[in-house]
Amino acid sequence: MLAAATALILPASAAAPKGEPFGTANGKPVEVFTLTNHKGLKLRAMTYGAIVLSLETPDRDGKSADVVLGYKTLDEYIKDTPYFGAVVGRVGNRIAKGKFTLDDKTYTLALNNDPGGIKCSLHGGLKGFDKVVWQGEGVEKDGVQGVKFHYLSKDGEEGYPGNLDVTVIYWLTDDNEWKIDYSATTDKATPVNVTQHSYFNLKGEGNGDILDHEITFKASRFTPVDAGLIPTGRLQPVEGTPFDFTTPHKVGERVNAEDEQLKFGGGYDHNWVLDNQSGGLALAAVVHEPTTGRTMEILTTEPGLQFYCGNFLDGQLTGKSGKPYNHRNALVFETQHYPDSPNQPTFPSIILKPGKTMKSTTVYRFGLKSGK
Ligand code: GLA
Repeated sequence: MLAAATALILPASAAAPKGEPFGTANGKPVEVFTLTNHKGLKLRAMTYGAIVLSLETPDRDGKSADVVLGYKTLDEYIKDTPYFGAVVGRVGNRIAKGKFTLDDKTYTLALNNDPGGIKCSLHGGLKGFDKVVWQGEGVEKDGVQGVKFHYLSKDGEEGYPGNLDVTVIYWLTDDNEWKIDYSATTDKATPVNVTQHSYFNLKGEGNGDILDHEITFKASRFTPVDAGLIPTGRLQPVEGTPFDFTTPHKVGERVNAEDEQLKFGGGYDHNWVLDNQSGGLALAAVVHEPTTGRTMEILTTEPGLQFYCGNFLDGQLTGKSGKPYNHRNALVFETQHYPDSPNQPTFPSIILKPGKTMKSTTVYRFGLKSGK
């Protein structure tokens, strides 16, 4: 009797979401899952690339907007995307010259990126985790909806050693958190650095640039890069540089400053060394958009945060509501280990060994701030 009564008052979103058809990629059916919480947030994600298609959150007047960039159809994602909403891996970010040595063996990866005319491997290679069809399953825990994505990256895929079994779960909690749990195991030692590549605009996707977004990073150092956007190996204090976000600053305030690092990146496209290096979940960043009042806090167990401010967007791509995505129309916050880790002996290691499990959690938490 009691159980029946409880079932009656349970809100609809307490059930595990069901996958719905969203087309075909790589000859396989693709499904989309819709997660809702009880506070008006809604997240849609598909099995192709574990891509987040949309994320709706209310502003300070209760008006919802979709705060991530993306396309309307699967075919547009297949055709051309700068990793909109995707999970990137096996190794997110850059590997110098597409080469690394592990246990005396040198591995060669595809060279799919060339900032400053210098070739490297970016975001897992030609067909990384963003371009494969994952297995999707709707899940539910304590009234919170989620979607669990699973992918087996075969030994040798994109040049990497070992069968890597990867699980990524997205949750949408009633604390207005999009929570991501990553885990992976392997049967041969391999580098792993999986992250999420959503492009945020807290004014709503397609609603102009992000230069007035105010950000704070819990990071007193960053990893400066060379002209090919590969870290020099130094951990440089941010103090006195345009990279100092230890107190809130608008993105546009210093993004065009005379600075060699900003020149290399065409703006911010760098990895910050988070103050929290404990491996426990801690606040990494706070983002505030003054006109809508939307805020986003980022918490992570990862030691680094790549902040990219959409420098390569140039109006060529048209988004889901028909508006072009112009220069600096979005912010990307990739929680991760540092770029080029396999070639940087002083950086925290990304080598996963058989018998061990890689575990990582990141939270994007949405809120509101009153006043301007
Ligand atoms: C990451 C990189 C950027 C760029 C984008 C995708 O954020 O750091 O340089 O390649 O991905 O366009």
